[in-house]
Formats: sequence, structure tokens, C-alpha cells
Amino acid sequence: MALLEVSNVTMQFGGLTAIDNLSTRVEKGEIHAVIGPNGAGKTTLINVLTGVYPATSGSVSFEGVRIDGLRPYERVKLGMARTFQNLRVFPSLSVRENVTVSQFCRTTSGVVANTLRTRAVVREEARVRDRVDEALNFVGLADKAGWPSKSLPYGQQRLLEIARAMATEPKLLLLDEPGAGMTLQETQGLGVLIKRIRDRGITVLLIDHKMRLIMTVSDVVTVVNFGKKIAEDTPAAVQKDPEVVRAYLGARGLRT
Ligand SMILES: Nc1ncnc2c1ncn2[C@@H]1O[C@H](COP(=O)(O)OP(=O)(O)O)[C@@H](O)[C@H]1O
Ligand SMILES: [Mg+2]
Repeated sequence: MALLEVSNVTMQFGGLTAIDNLSTRVEKGEIHAVIGPNGAGKTTLINVLTGVYPATSGSVSFEGVRIDGLRPYERVKLGMARTFQNLRVFPSLSVRENVTVSQFCRTTSGVVANTLRTRAVVREEARVRDRVDEALNFVGLADKAGWPSKSLPYGQQRLLEIARAMATEPKLLLLDEPGAGMTLQETQGLGVLIKRIRDRGITVLLIDHKMRLIMTVSDVVTVVNFGKKIAEDTPAAVQKDPEVVRAYLGARGLRT
């Protein structure tokens, strides 16, 4: 059983078909890349998978269970977490606060218990603090926990988004162009981080344009063009696929 199974998904916005009858399987434990030109439907795919948009047709299963009707927060609870192509950190909150807000999906205490500050609440707060610290440590931002997020360099704000997603303890992490705006060195660090995430048993769906990153970390690459899947294979095979070269790689090459 695949961790994520996408079956014949189509997503239309008015007359525009952003995803066209796309099927793919993301196997547990793999780093699965999705690449393709701008406007190919990559972000829309993440939005459909995470429940931002209901697909026009087709179905999505997670751990063998249909999730089509679930709201985004329900999918987070099941173990799906994402980052955004356009950063969504809260600029005036601290680094730590930005990660802490993601924890509400994993807390169980109600308003009454919180008001009374029961022992369970105190315990839960300690657990949240631990998870936040652990996530910040994992991405290398522990020493900046108290900084306002907006004072982080751009590449580190992207790491902060990853920490926030990691703190929800996902089984599947969906990264939408995490390398965008990163320096070459930051992108190399990102590649190492993505492999460390996978080594923790978290499956990764990775969208990016940085081909060196894609080719060095991915187990499988799905190539989309105009919403259609045009290839799916190992990085080495996809790189040589004539249709992929024509639609995407030709103009781009191995640009970092
Ligand atoms: N909410 C929306 N409403 C209308 N059109 C959209 C919406 N989201 C995406 N699109 C369109 O869907 C197509 C695919 O966009 P997108 O998924 O962002 O591509 P990519 O991430 O591959 O660059 C584009 O033509 C885009 O304009
Ligand atoms: Mg996009």
C-alpha cells in the first residue's frame, strides 16, 4: 500500500484545467519530487492533496483511506504537513512562536482545563515546548528561537516553515519550492536536511526548480506539464527522457 495514492485527479478553475487526470503513488519512506514548468499545476496539486481545494474529480487516499472530503486541519491530524511557495511565517512573532502555533492541532485540552491550568494542561504545555525545541534544533534554528521571524535571512525563514511543519509530527511532508530564494550553499544544506527528514521515516513530496537539488535527493521524479503527468521515473531516467527535456529541462538544464 502506498502512503499516498492519487487517482485520476482533475482540478478545474472555471475553464482552466490546472490538473488533468493525474495519478501517482507516493511510497512510504521515499523522497518523491514533482517538477515541471511554471503554471504546470504543482502548487495546485499540493493544495488538492492538503484539502485547500476539493478536486473536481478523482480521489486521494492516505494510508489506504479516502481523504477527499477532509478539511485541511483534519489532514494535518492524519499526518500531512506542508510548507508554502510564498512564505507564510508570521513576521512579528518570534521564531519559537511561529513553531508553537502549529502545535494547536496536536493539543487536546479544552478551554475549561486551560483556564483551570490542570496538571494535564501543564504537562501538555511541557510536551509542546519540547516538540518546538526539537523542531527548531532539527533545522538548526535553536539559537534564534527568540528572534522576530522577520529578522531571519530569507533562507532561514524557509527553514522555519519546515520546522513548523515538522512540529506537527507528519508522516508526509509536502514542500513547495523550499529552495526558492536560497543561496547555493543554503540549497546544499537543504538537500542534507531533506534527507535527514526522510531518514526519520518521514515521506517527502518535494517541488522545486533547482535541478541539482532534485537530482541529488529524489528517489522518484514525477514530471508535469499543463497539468498532465508526462513522465515518472528515477532522476537519471527522467533527465534523459526526450519529452521532459523538450517540455522543461531543455531550457533549464542543470541550473542550480
Ligand atoms: N485559485 C486559483 N484560481 C484560478 N486559477 C488558479 C488558481 N490556482 C492556480 N490557478 C491556475 O492553475 C494553473 C497552475 O498553477 P500552479 O498550480 O500554481 O502552477 P505551478 O505551481 O506548477 O507553477 C495556473 O494556470 C494558475 O494560474
Ligand atoms: Mg507553484
